[in-house]
Amino acid sequence: MDQMQKEILFSREVIDKRVKELAACISQDYEGRELIVIGILKGAFIFMADLIRALSIPCQVDFARLASYGAGSVSSGKVILMNDIEMSIRGKDILIIEDIVDTGITLSYFVQWLKERNPRSLKVCAFLDKRGRRKVTFEADYVGFTIEDGFVVGYGLDFDEKARFLPDVYIMKE
Ligand code: PRP
Repeated sequence: MDQMQKEILFSREVIDKRVKELAACISQDYEGRELIVIGILKGAFIFMADLIRALSIPCQVDFARLASYGAGSVSSGKVILMNDIEMSIRGKDILIIEDIVDTGITLSYFVQWLKERNPRSLKVCAFLDKRGRRKVTFEADYVGFTIEDGFVVGYGLDFDEKARFLPDVYIMKE
């Protein structure tokens, strides 16, 4: 990884514009309702912070910590819920915020987990939808950007905990 080059895929300006578009769409869809947004840590923290500040409706926030372990960039397919949400979501409108949908395993697991608590509604907003590596059928309701494949870092996305802090999104090149 240290020998790999990186190239900007989505600049901070492009990201900012798209996040504001998503926020406008979500604000319109949830007009007059009380939204609880649930960020999946760690990757979603930057996207979530930007997105909720661009909403024109009030929201409450909570977090869950989920992890799928594997070697390097390859997911093991096993999801571990390391920290659950704290709030009661029964009868509430819930929007899960995620940085990336890859195999779809993490979100499939977490959506099912939350559905069992009977929210009024449950939708997913993903910053990136990496469509080429799905292992389970999963469609996010709101998507920032779609890519087919490739290893991306920055704007919350890491490699070995590095690069989350970068304001732009990069694709790694051999
Ligand atoms: C990443 C990402 C998603 C998940 C997506 O999390 O943040 O939660 O993988 O992959 P999937 O669709 O193949 O399940 P990771 O486990 O790397 O933890 P992190 O958020 O702390 O980086």
